Amino acid sequence: MAKIVLVTGSVFGAALLTADEIETALLEASHEVIRPEPQTIDSLTDDSVNYLIVCTSTTGSGDVPDDLLTLYTGLRTEYPRITHLSYLVVALGDSSYDHFCGGGVTMDESIADLGAKQIKPPLKLDALEITEPEEVAPEWVVTAIAEHQSQS
Ligand SMILES: Cc1cc2nc3c(=O)[nH]c(=O)nc-3n(C[C@H](O)[C@H](O)[C@H](O)COP(=O)(O)O)c2cc1C
Repeated sequence: MAKIVLVTGSVFGAALLTADEIETALLEASHEVIRPEPQTIDSLTDDSVNYLIVCTSTTGSGDVPDDLLTLYTGLRTEYPRITHLSYLVVALGDSSYDHFCGGGVTMDESIADLGAKQIKPPLKLDALEITEPEEVAPEWVVTAIAEHQSQS
């Protein structure tokens, strides 16, 4: 069992629904899931947390959604110590935009810059191809964590 912080960035709800399904799958796999409210860097600095999952869409021109901005800004300006975390990013986007999955890519880079361990490159889900990201992401996350735990 792992202790997992799950944070979301969503404008219209698709990433939120996807995160809900990820949470359900993680609970079924007997993990402990924390969805911090408010979403700040304080939730990441607890040494007893093993994993961080970011599930975010992209808004504007490759931007992080507003509900994830406090966390993102905290990472970029306060440099929290998160080297104890391994992490995954589930990025929802639309390849017809210039900065495909830019929000997820930005979060991935911000977390990696602080020394957390990337388990896998971001899962990029293109709304043009995948209309139900909540059907795809949970299994990817649960499998990635199981594989990581078996290697550790
Ligand atoms: C105003 C607007 C701007 C967007 N900008 C981008 C973008 O820059 N890059 C991208 O990959 N997707 C972009 N998207 C697509 C969304 O990220 C995608 O539709 C996603 O599934 C929405 O998830 P949500 O319902 O959680 O907000 C944009 C969508 C809208 C409506």
